[in-house]
Amino acid sequence: MSYFRSVIEAMEGYIPGEQPRNGEYIKLNTNENPYSPSPHVIQSLRDHLSSHRISLYPSPLGDGIRKKAAEIYGVPEDWIMIGNGSDEILNLIFRAFLGKGDVVMYLYPTYILYRTLALFQEAEYQEIPFTYDETLPMELIDRPAQLKVICNPNSPSGTFFPIPQMEKLLQVSDCPVVIDEAYVDFSRDNCLSLLKTYPNLLIPRSFSKSFSLAGMRIGILFAHPEIVHGLLKLKDSYNLSCLSQVAAMAALEDIDAMWENVRKIRETREWFTRAMRELSFTVRPSEANFVMVQKGGGNMRLLYEALKSRQILVRFFPEWPDLLRISIGTDLEMKTLLNALYSITGA
Ligand SMILES: Cc1ncc(COP(=O)(O)O)c(C=O)c1O
Repeated sequence: MSYFRSVIEAMEGYIPGEQPRNGEYIKLNTNENPYSPSPHVIQSLRDHLSSHRISLYPSPLGDGIRKKAAEIYGVPEDWIMIGNGSDEILNLIFRAFLGKGDVVMYLYPTYILYRTLALFQEAEYQEIPFTYDETLPMELIDRPAQLKVICNPNSPSGTFFPIPQMEKLLQVSDCPVVIDEAYVDFSRDNCLSLLKTYPNLLIPRSFSKSFSLAGMRIGILFAHPEIVHGLLKLKDSYNLSCLSQVAAMAALEDIDAMWENVRKIRETREWFTRAMRELSFTVRPSEANFVMVQKGGGNMRLLYEALKSRQILVRFFPEWPDLLRISIGTDLEMKTLLNALYSITGA
């Protein structure tokens, strides 16, 4: 006999990428940033620890971060909510807008957590096939739902929908529309400018990727104040630890350091994409800090395993065996990966 709700008992649960702790791998499987965060972040954390203030609860709403983010992104403070990673923000959104039997719609393949969160709510998830061009499928735009989610740039494809496509979706959807911008700093554009016009738009972002702070678990949401107000009712009072708040604040104070890391990653992404195509892999044009690679529709498990045995970890998804998702590391890491591929494939 199980004490769990039947839906929880039956589901598998989200399986995160492998997180080996011993540093023996070149780790290109969970889209972390290979570069350190700003030195100002490290110094601010040290200063905070030496001042003994960890005995106090942190600011419930992250007042300092909201103020600084408002200044940087040109969005009022009460249009901003902070989260324990953008995963927490997504979790709150699904809990807030979806009940049993409600419909959530998203493209597929995408971030599999959306499905997991829908299952928690006993909601119906409709997965619309991804078309890999720059046009959103009409079904996603036309069909009614209680929640629509687009990951832009998308994972695992890395591809990006131009903003007018997003606007088209927002214009006709009378439900909340989430545009998950976890990877947006690596892309050409973003949806913040649509926020004022569309009260149904929610934009969660992550500090785990461009800001090199995956370990601190920081996310930020931009949305109309009525939406933020509603979501705050669901949020844990002290969802973001004082150290995470210090890190987020310092990262925003030295945002140029983030942009410099992004510049390097984009450069690496470009030459690595070319090199992979020369090796006859299909690589979708990526606007994220990873690329999706395929080879003639073949199963990529053996290649994933061969790389792993050479201490290189990339992401293999059993659900999509014909692709690998490879995070962009340093130039040296990517050259090591290429050399491994030359030796595995005999190229
Ligand atoms: C599309 C997408 N959204 C959100 C997240 C969650 O990021 P975090 O909770 O680290 O901010 C991830 C993490 O990989 C992601 O790929």
